Amino acid sequence: MALRTILNKRDEALSKKCRPVEKFDKRLHTLLDDMKETLYHADGAGLAAPQVGILRRACVIDVGEGYIELINPEIISQSGEQTGVEGCLSCPNEWGYVTRAKNVTFRAQDRNGNFYEKSVEDLFARCVLHECDHLDGKVFTSLVTEWVDPKELEEN
Ligand code: NI
Repeated sequence: MALRTILNKRDEALSKKCRPVEKFDKRLHTLLDDMKETLYHADGAGLAAPQVGILRRACVIDVGEGYIELINPEIISQSGEQTGVEGCLSCPNEWGYVTRAKNVTFRAQDRNGNFYEKSVEDLFARCVLHECDHLDGKVFTSLVTEWVDPKELEEN
């Protein structure tokens, strides 16, 4: 495993629509292993492949409820609403309030290509939507309704 460089949102890879993963091979497994290590090293909640320069539809998430890998994820349904502070490993020191669905059900493939479906809520749902946005070239900063001073977060 190896750490990958996390690109800044200004990098053009962060604004590209990613292509589906078609080969569930060793190359993909290495990418996912590296993304996992990079995620934990950066102390993040989620990381999408374009953030490490790979324009494929894959992301990894761990919001403290277990580590999961989402390959070719699709949001099946979303409901409710939550407004909370969001950040991104590609946007150092940028924090802001974003309103998203509170409940999300998605379908994705695992690293071997097997389909699975999962329903998540709250922070997990927020993270799934945030990472899926990355796969379409969308960064959370475009959704911020109110910016937060990073110093205020440190005090709380
Ligand atoms: Ni992000």
